[in-house]
Amino acid sequence: TAILTERLSATLRDVPDFPSPGILFKDITPVLADPALMRDVITAMLAPLRGSGVTHVVGVESRGFLFGVPMALQLDVPFAPARKPGKLPWKTARESYDLEYRSDVLEMHTDAVGAGARVLVVDDVLATGGTAAATCRLIERLGGSVVGVSVLVELGFLHGRAKLPDRAVHAVVTF
Ligand code: PRP
Ligand code: MG
Repeated sequence: TAILTERLSATLRDVPDFPSPGILFKDITPVLADPALMRDVITAMLAPLRGSGVTHVVGVESRGFLFGVPMALQLDVPFAPARKPGKLPWKTARESYDLEYRSDVLEMHTDAVGAGARVLVVDDVLATGGTAAATCRLIERLGGSVVGVSVLVELGFLHGRAKLPDRAVHAVVTF
């Protein structure tokens, strides 16, 4: 709702020149520090997915974990992490992607989301879209299908949706 958008705008903290000059960083830690706001955020991030038969939530390391785990619990479905390279102990598949200020790799366990899985991808911020697009590719390579991408914050001026054509992308607040 408009009221939730206003609460988020008032709570998210803008940090200039982090992690590098020219980047205006959206700090979510004040949102995490407000349990009533967090509850409403989790509800809002799930709202567009009601009735879409989500069977798994995949959260992207690290800030996607903070929203993905409570969303999975709310849906009563398994959570699976997409992690930075070398962190997962079992058999993994990997996908490379380019970021606003660097390039990186994500890995998932090969048994995390099998055939028939209807997966919701969760992250805190959609910026250039590279992270979310790589996560979707990884899920599909493992046999799952992506039913949506849900983020708290979309940075519209970075046009992340252009990297996610034909995906259902949902953001609670867009800047
Ligand atoms: C940030 C953010 C998203 C991603 C968005 O994560 O949490 O995951 O970048 O950027 P993109 O849309 O341009 O790909 P980051 O890689 O900084 O790591 P963190 O979540 O561990 O802080
Ligand atoms: Mg992240």
